[in-house]
Amino acid sequence: MDIFHDVTNQLYCEEVPVSKIAFEVGTPFYLYSYRSLTSQFKAYDAAFQDIPHLICYAVKANSNLAILKTFGKMGGGADIVSGGELFRSLRAGIPSEKIVFAGVGKMRGEIASALRTGIYLMNVESFQELQLIDEVAKSERKTAPVAIRVNPSIDPMTHPYISTGMKESKFGIDMEEALEVYLEAKSLTHVKMIGVHQHIGSQLTELAPFVEAIKKVAEFIQKVRSHDIHISVLDIGGGLGIPYEGESAPSPSEMAAAIIPILKPLGCRIILEPGRSLVGKSGSLISRVLYTKTSSDRSFVVVDAGMSELIRPSLYQAYHEIRPLVQADRPFKKVDVVGPVCESGDFFAKEREMGELYPGEYLAIMDAGAYGFSMSSHYNSRPNVPEVLVNGSHFSVIREREDFEDLVRREKIPPFLT
Ligand code: LLP
Repeated sequence: MDIFHDVTNQLYCEEVPVSKIAFEVGTPFYLYSYRSLTSQFKAYDAAFQDIPHLICYAVKANSNLAILKTFGKMGGGADIVSGGELFRSLRAGIPSEKIVFAGVGKMRGEIASALRTGIYLMNVESFQELQLIDEVAKSERKTAPVAIRVNPSIDPMTHPYISTGMKESKFGIDMEEALEVYLEAKSLTHVKMIGVHQHIGSQLTELAPFVEAIKKVAEFIQKVRSHDIHISVLDIGGGLGIPYEGESAPSPSEMAAAIIPILKPLGCRIILEPGRSLVGKSGSLISRVLYTKTSSDRSFVVVDAGMSELIRPSLYQAYHEIRPLVQADRPFKKVDVVGPVCESGDFFAKEREMGELYPGEYLAIMDAGAYGFSMSSHYNSRPNVPEVLVNGSHFSVIREREDFEDLVRREKIPPFLT
């Protein structure tokens, strides 16, 4: 059974009618399915069972503690990019030895706390960063386990904002230079070069770029090993896409079938960093129609959620399916679904064919579990919305709605204004 499915024209999440949650919690809110989260995780774990592996969930996709705990309890680790994500992961009970740390701009304090807690791997993106890690490790009396993030110069054929492994990308180090970095690292006393990291981009709907990148990285590992550097870990990043608009996207098992033949002979422990493919289809943003209006040549449906809750359509022209919680047989109309934020870019859909909608009706903006809440903001002084997790016939609020006091809590009036 689909996780989000209809029972007599009403949208259910698992066994709960979504409108029941909307009445109790109020809109807008994010809704997630526990069954979907766990089945996605299991699909990855099963797909890679033939090789030593660790699934380090990309925390940035959705960093709610309950989500982290869900994957942590299933044996997952965390792929983090900041001190804040380290804090969250540890707070959710993810063991430090299952945490990997990426990012082009790690700060000294973040490096120190990562080393102090004893994380599994620092994924390093420049030689200067490596030098700083060596220095910090020395003062912490630690040896930092390191992988260099290599840039395999592959076009992942996705949105330019989420491509990361191309020549002009700020991420990683070009392969030729990366070899130099491994060699130069021999002179550093407090880093141990144990791995290689790559991540070529997000929302990949083709396997070819993955396969090509991994082939290049496999050759690279052999080259590094030929210099007597013992590489035992290969972190292949995340990036597997999901169908947003009916397009096809490979499953974890298809991905595994395509790359395990290249990975196995390397004899490395494989780290995976999936984000979107674990949480994207497990979540939706529930909103309510406030008004409908028509201008000279456009019809608008104004809803109570906006780009402050889900920025993907504004930022990447991303498509998200939008459907009413209660399906009614109404004439179709082309509408723009827009939010209340004071920006023309605040929309969820443009010229979308939808059955006619009326104020007060609820809508679900689908496939919003990844990079939805985690990219939300307070723009227009809009409090953060709640997040709700359904498990079977129960639901739990896993983040409360903020109030106006939350908005100003850290603000201060200087004495000269009082
Ligand atoms: N590992 C690293 C080093 C990453 O930079 C990312 C995502 C991931 C793993 C997880 O990738 P995933 O499996 O989720 O594709 N905000 C954009 C996506 C940005 C992805 C950033 N990096 C969006 O909403 O589409």
